[in-house]
Formats: sequence, structure tokens, C-alpha cells
Amino acid sequence: MVQLTLPKNSRMVTGKTWPKPEGASNVRKVQIYRWTPDDGKNPRLDTYFVDMDTCGPMVLDLLIKIKNEIDPTLTFRRSCREGICGSCAMNIDGINTLACTWGHEQIKGTIRIYPLPHMPVVKDLIPDLTHFYAQHASIMPWLETKSNEPAKEWKQSIEDRRKLDGLYECIMCASCSTACPSYWWNGDRYLGPAALLHAYRWIIDSRDEATPERLDQLEDPFKLYRCHTIMNCAKTCPKGLNPAKAIQEIKGMMLDRVV
Ligand code: SF4
Ligand code: FES
Repeated sequence: MVQLTLPKNSRMVTGKTWPKPEGASNVRKVQIYRWTPDDGKNPRLDTYFVDMDTCGPMVLDLLIKIKNEIDPTLTFRRSCREGICGSCAMNIDGINTLACTWGHEQIKGTIRIYPLPHMPVVKDLIPDLTHFYAQHASIMPWLETKSNEPAKEWKQSIEDRRKLDGLYECIMCASCSTACPSYWWNGDRYLGPAALLHAYRWIIDSRDEATPERLDQLEDPFKLYRCHTIMNCAKTCPKGLNPAKAIQEIKGMMLDRVV
């Protein structure tokens, strides 16, 4: 069951069932969360029937087909269509992932699509990520230096550069943070897996000169220590990253400072 944040004083209701496509022999049932702030109505689950013989292989293809051919009011975010921009993250068949890289053939039975869980919804499948981005900005996601500017560039050895592998690939899709129960319950103060993965990425960057300040900023009962290593983040990350490991590394660095 998807953990949704429903708009205040609302409940999920059964939505509209759209007609089956005429003459199609390979049809799949798709249920999609719908809600708009404009009409004061409850969120609902609309049911669509899609001719799969004329549909591309990914869930994003399915959504685009529904929007183009059945219901132009369906609203969702997407941009790159290649798993790079992170904007099409949503809950598909119970899993937070990217619609553009998730093939619908692997889904058994009815295809159910919701927005990312436990986030306020802007409309339909679009979550409001304002707070998520503010948390990302709070960890100073940039190179902090104190030395004089080098004549050409801030150099880094191949070995030090390799330490950023498994971190720099994050596309800020928010699948991990919105799959994390600690973030669901304390997301106002716990930074969550995505922001902490980025914090670690800058902490261990050999060119950065603000490690003590970065660690000071994270030394807080909520910002960092609300991670209970539940591991939903690593399980769901569509880029195969492991934010829980990055969080453990930061905790280890905190310990080293104490000892
Ligand atoms: S760590 Fe993975 S799931 Fe989390 S924001 Fe980055 S790419 Fe998305
Ligand atoms: S559309 Fe860019 S990641 Fe899916």
C-alpha cells in the first residue's frame, strides 16, 4: 500500500473508468492517482485501458500515450527520458522509481501509479519538492575552498576522484528519501538519504576545505542520526546508489572526531 500524503480533510475515492480501446486485443488496465487543487474534490484513482500493441516499453511511454490519446488532463513531470534528469520519479507498482527507465512488461496485473509517497502533491503525479531541494541546498552542495585560487584549476588525483564514484551519479530524483520511513515521520528535521549522500560527496572531495564545518552542521540529533539503516533508500535507488552507506560513513567520521 502506498503511503500517500492526502490533501487536508480528504480521502481517496474511486475515480473515472475510461472506455476500452475499440478493436484492441492486447489491452492493459492502468490505475493512476489523480488530484487537482483547483476543484476542491477528493483525490481519486482513475482507470484507463491501454492498447499495448501501440505503446512503447516504458511506463513513461504509457503515461504519454494516455495523455496524448485518452486524457489530456493527466499531469506528470518528465524531461530527459533517459534516467538523467530525475523528474519522472513516481511510485510504480509499489516501488519509487523512474517512469522513463521502468519497463511496464515486468509489472504483473493492473499497473498502479501514484506520486512519490509522503510528499505534498502539486497535481496528479507531481510531488512538491520545495522542502527536499531546500534540504539539499542546506548541505552546501558546492566546492568550499579557503586557499588562493589556483592559476588553472583545482586538481584532484585519479585515486581521490574515484572516491566520488557511487555518489556523483545521484540525479536528485527523491525516490530514496520518499521511500524512507524516518524521512516520512521526521522529514521536517531529518535531512534524508539524498541530501546526506550529497553531504558525504562534498565531505570526501579532496579539493574541499570545509570538512569540519560540514560535519559541525550535521552534528544534530535529527539531521543525521534519524537514519536507522532501514535500507529502503539503497533498495529503491534507480541509479543503484547506496545512500545508507554514505550516511554510515559520515557517522563514522563523527565518531573519529570524538575519539
Ligand atoms: S540517491 Fe538515488 S534515489 Fe536518491 S535521489 Fe539520488 S538517484 Fe534518486
Ligand atoms: S524523464 Fe528524466 S529521469 Fe525520467
